[in-house]
Amino acid sequence: MASENLLELNDIEAGYGRAALVLRGLTVKVPAGSVVCLVGPNGAGKSTVLKVASGMLAPRSGSIVVDGEEVTGSGPQSMIRHGLSHVLQGHSVFKEMTVAENVSLGAYTVKDKAEVQERVEFVKNLFPVVADRWAALAGALSGGQQKQVEFARSLMVSPKVVLLDEPSMGLDPKTTSVVFEQVVRMREAGIAVLLVEQNARRALETADIGCVLDLGRVHITGPAPELLEDPQLAELYLGGGGGTRDADPTEDPTPSEARSPELSSPAPERT
Ligand SMILES: Nc1ncnc2c1ncn2[C@@H]1O[C@H](COP(=O)(O)OP(=O)(O)O)[C@@H](O)[C@H]1O
Ligand SMILES: [Mg+2]
Repeated sequence: MASENLLELNDIEAGYGRAALVLRGLTVKVPAGSVVCLVGPNGAGKSTVLKVASGMLAPRSGSIVVDGEEVTGSGPQSMIRHGLSHVLQGHSVFKEMTVAENVSLGAYTVKDKAEVQERVEFVKNLFPVVADRWAALAGALSGGQQKQVEFARSLMVSPKVVLLDEPSMGLDPKTTSVVFEQVVRMREAGIAVLLVEQNARRALETADIGCVLDLGRVHITGPAPELLEDPQLAELYLGGGGGTRDADPTEDPTPSEARSPELSSPAPERT
């Protein structure tokens, strides 16, 4: 893994309007060739981190550096040009349009037709389901397949770093695994990933580096496998020892799922 950072968010303070700050001195670094995962409970500010990184929300203070270049204060269009692509939380495919049309929308800033064609071949190769269902209406695809269409769309601008906001949301565990496999394939294709997840344990199993968000800062960061092994972290943020520890019913009558709903299985896919 190369050591230089493709994205640095340094000491970021950010919030909405006059409300209290959501991010209070947050620092996250995404090295080339890596998947960095930011975990934390609902409302912790995970999506806010990605909005700051993609220029949707200007930070009050701190700096954003992309591949060595300071880009703090750039808007979304400029951030795309600098190499950041953002896959928003929730489902954003246009169901009445074909997969081809959805993916092509991602290239609306790319003028060179040959380059667009090259990117189409790249994403079809990376996401076989996108190639197989190219002419189908996006609404006819399952939720997991639609997520891959969103991934493909985000890669049409040849990003250096992709920002993924809760890609597993609303997907069943099996489909979630497929989507996380595709995240690994993006890394293998040379794209760094900043992944945000409520599904902390599953995401840390996929990531190289984990960051735990608490009170608007990165509370703990380190190699993801080490975070998964840390008993205190598991207890506080990952809903106990998960599959590796037997629950002692005399210790706490509350099932760990009840304490940490974010770690229980996501709701079954509805689409
Ligand atoms: N557009 C917005 N306007 C005002 N407050 C917002 C907005 N979006 C998020 N917030 C608030 O910011 C905090 C962090 O939200 P968010 O980043 O979406 O958390 P997460 O993605 O970790 O669930 C929450 O308290 C939320 O209510
Ligand atoms: Mg969110």
